Amino acid sequence: MTDIDTSQSGAVSDGNPGTPGTDLARHDGALPDRFENPGLPAHVHRAADDDPAAAKRAEKQVATLFGLSMLATLVFLVGYFAIRDEATFYLPGVGLAKTQNVVLGLSLGFALFFIGIGAVHWAKTLMSDEEIVEERHPQRSDDRARSAAVTTVLDGGTNAQLGRRPLILYSLGGAMGLFALPFVLQIAGSLGPVDGPEELKHTIWDLENNDGKPIRLMRDPEMTPIKLDEVTNGSVFHVMPETLQKYIDENHGVLEAKAKAAVILIRLDPNDIKVAKARDWGVDGVVAYSKICTHVGCAVGLYEQGTHHLLCPCHQSTFDLTEDCKVIFGPARRPLPQLKIQVDDAGYLVAPEGFHEPVGPSFWERKR
Ligand code: FES
Repeated sequence: MTDIDTSQSGAVSDGNPGTPGTDLARHDGALPDRFENPGLPAHVHRAADDDPAAAKRAEKQVATLFGLSMLATLVFLVGYFAIRDEATFYLPGVGLAKTQNVVLGLSLGFALFFIGIGAVHWAKTLMSDEEIVEERHPQRSDDRARSAAVTTVLDGGTNAQLGRRPLILYSLGGAMGLFALPFVLQIAGSLGPVDGPEELKHTIWDLENNDGKPIRLMRDPEMTPIKLDEVTNGSVFHVMPETLQKYIDENHGVLEAKAKAAVILIRLDPNDIKVAKARDWGVDGVVAYSKICTHVGCAVGLYEQGTHHLLCPCHQSTFDLTEDCKVIFGPARRPLPQLKIQVDDAGYLVAPEGFHEPVGPSFWERKR
């Protein structure tokens, strides 16, 4: 880069770094004499420019990369149609992953990647790399061209007889306006309260999964039934429905269902429970609540016996068991749903009905 010596040329600097003397911006647009246009660097010939064998080799390499992309796309198509939606596998560091998602993501990624590097390799080895200077021209059209364009538009309106045929003008406006309405309604509808996907309202605790019979509460993960007197004061049980395995088998291993069904079972002194409904839905102070945090769905697993608070470890939402799991702290916006429990003839705890409200995060608008 050429240094600029403004002191010798009599230039006046404005004092801003990067703004040299004003004589650089001469009105005739010419550069001062002491500047020499360095020009473009000498063109370097690549192997493929002079050697046909190297060019052929590069061509094959580019074709191979595009071929790999085609292969990856074929894997994507096969994965899309052939892999069952429920298929999963264990991915180290991630956990349980859906096979189809992984295959589709990787294959699509590789397909794009090979197209990209194929194109780059093509450009670097075979496409012309001659430097070309393209002079810019003014973007604005001259006044004649601009007024001609306006005249053309106005003539179009005149030829279409819009002014003379108001009936067509208004009916066209009506048709266009109504045509836009479905889109507006779609957008407006998506902003308002929505009911949420149906599957979020159901869990394996619904009695239809047990031919209408009450469902036993089972210790997780042992899957053994729980007697009322086994739940001592202050103890906490992590519970699953006895129908869990049957449901998973019949529904091709839907593990999300297990996540939604997690329940926490705790015994309090019945006199500590301040809400009648919460007391009535339990047995002798033993109460069951969904374990899925109503904030964004972490497992609420920390029980503070002294205060009867349930804590979510993710963002510290705190639920008060004595007040029907009301939120007393944190970002959750609604209580944990309670599962009604009873004791069956054999003395085991059962759920005589499913949850009365959706468990888990509030993905949709709710009344409370
Ligand atoms: S998921 Fe429980 S507080 Fe956020």
